[in-house]
Amino acid sequence: MAQQTLILIKPDGLVKSLTGNILTRLSESKLEIIAAKMARVSKELAEKHYCHLKDKPFYNELIKYIMGELHDRKKVLAMVYWGDDAIGKVRELAGETNPEEANPVSIRGQYGRITTKGLYENVIHASTNEEEAQREIKLWFEPDEVIVELYQTKISEVKNIKKKVWA
Ligand code: PPS
Repeated sequence: MAQQTLILIKPDGLVKSLTGNILTRLSESKLEIIAAKMARVSKELAEKHYCHLKDKPFYNELIKYIMGELHDRKKVLAMVYWGDDAIGKVRELAGETNPEEANPVSIRGQYGRITTKGLYENVIHASTNEEEAQREIKLWFEPDEVIVELYQTKISEVKNIKKKVWA
């Protein structure tokens, strides 16, 4: 069954110049990339993305981490991968969330670490299930940024909104 999943290459992955390596590993999945962008992560976006972890002791560090404040690299590469069993295939390549428990040849096993404060720096995020994928994809991407119509859309007329366009 075709599925979609959100993948983020996190600031540690970018600062360690791992983008190419990670994309090469992900290409083993033979899935299609249907959306991709470099994104600045505002506090609001970070908090929405990790809203289910508000009460965890590592929450504040996690927010700083995804915003790039721990690595002086204030961006992430956000992508949507699409195809048969996308969520399972990507999670298999990514490895366990805890880099110490991850298969050593998985992406997190190869490149992740746990900081002295106990934070997992695991270089990528990947959606856990279809419900989470839907919530996350809608949070990170506008409908027009995704080249496959994944979810229902509606036309909303927005008047008097100023936005930057090419001069
Ligand atoms: S839960 O409640 O722990 O099962 O939540 P989960 O959906 O697995 O996501 C946990 C995210 O928090 C990041 N993180 C940590 N998790 C557990 N323990 C520690 N110490 C920790 N530090 C950071 C973890 O990497 C998950 O984020 P993503 O972006 O999915 O990797």
